[in-house]
Amino acid sequence: MNEYDSAAVVEMLEMRGWKSSPENEAQVIIVNTCAVRQNAENRALGRLLTMARTHKDAIVGIIGCVAQEIGGELLEKYPEIAFAVGPGEIDRIPEIIQNLDRKPRLDVDRLTGCGLRAKVEEGDLKAFVAISRGCENFCSYCIVPYVRGKLRGRPMSDIIDEINRDVDLGVREITMLGQNVNSYVDPATGEDFAGLLEKACDIAGLARIRFVTSHPRDMSDRIIDAIAYLPKVCEAIHLPVQSGSTRILQAMNRGYSREYYLDLIDKIIHKIPDVALTTDIIAGFPGETDEDFLDTVSLYERVGYASSFAFRYSVRPGTAAADFDDDVPENVKISRLERIITLGQKYAVKFSSSLIGKSREILVEGESNKNPGMQYGYDRAGRRVLFDGKNRLRGSLIRVIITNADKWFITGKIE
Ligand code: 5AD
Ligand code: SF4
Repeated sequence: MNEYDSAAVVEMLEMRGWKSSPENEAQVIIVNTCAVRQNAENRALGRLLTMARTHKDAIVGIIGCVAQEIGGELLEKYPEIAFAVGPGEIDRIPEIIQNLDRKPRLDVDRLTGCGLRAKVEEGDLKAFVAISRGCENFCSYCIVPYVRGKLRGRPMSDIIDEINRDVDLGVREITMLGQNVNSYVDPATGEDFAGLLEKACDIAGLARIRFVTSHPRDMSDRIIDAIAYLPKVCEAIHLPVQSGSTRILQAMNRGYSREYYLDLIDKIIHKIPDVALTTDIIAGFPGETDEDFLDTVSLYERVGYASSFAFRYSVRPGTAAADFDDDVPENVKISRLERIITLGQKYAVKFSSSLIGKSREILVEGESNKNPGMQYGYDRAGRRVLFDGKNRLRGSLIRVIITNADKWFITGKIE
């Protein structure tokens, strides 16, 4: 979502005559930030301050979730930061730069952000398209609802217009973005996410549709059926479980139990047999015992995710969990995290190996830099596949028989 927002800022500024330039020539430097974990926040701030101090003549601003969270404090503390704009107001950035007065602009409840479009670079085969903004699930560890505001669906006609524009520019694959795509509702017509997928499939020239992120609680049969039957929709579902322990899931306010999640997985696999399932996991949430953690391990093994993201729990100020006792020692968090990462590698290899001998649909990207003479592209699961072939295939869908598979290194032959 941040990549998309950054591209939307570039698009807005370029439409007003600004040009992208190398960092040391820039008159304005804008740092987009993520507040989801303390680590991301620290890195963004470090980077921002270094740039502000290196390029003293440039106007340096902070945007995104950290700006929303602590923008006021930052402006007070660091005179080198010229402006702070939260994610709800990025559409006003051109105006704010024009009328700089160093006041923070932090109105998260304004229903904006939906009218933006992201810049697509010439020759891009893939693009992001935001379908909604914000989230109101209030998972107890998560800062997103506080910094990105309430859930707002973007009008379906705007989404379809943006995809059409992308496709006219040569884009073949789009990834629909939302904090919780399955609860998408078109504010104009009431149409749901399955309806949006259906509509997007009708766009001639578009080859593939992906989407992130799905919330397990809101994954309806209608949506599963749409993924199963719509030919352009890739069978790849990112379904963050966060924990395999019902007790911890409850404390996280996730709205489902371990059993519900596993039943959902069974239902999905039944309807979409070659689905690639991926997930997010938090290790060391307050109160997580060894037993709770082993529940996460066993759930992981049962599902056998194609890949996953794992994080150490990080306290986010203002969230419900910030009031819980952050009682899992750091070294325990780290060892649990490492165990999940090791598990992730094992199952990633397993998933890739399961492709050997199979025919996979590949969206061709072009010649591989690392392996001259070889072409590469991505299969519907999102795995990168190398194969022999000619340059002219870029952007086309071809079928490749997988002959070899290491964890992330998969090779094949054009069928
Ligand atoms: N600590 C650790 N991980 C977090 N995530 C969100 N908030 C936190 C937090 N406070 C993770 C979740 C989410 C992903 C985007 O980031 O796993 O799915
Ligand atoms: Fe955060 Fe939960 Fe919303 Fe995801 S669904 S953005 S974890 S509050």
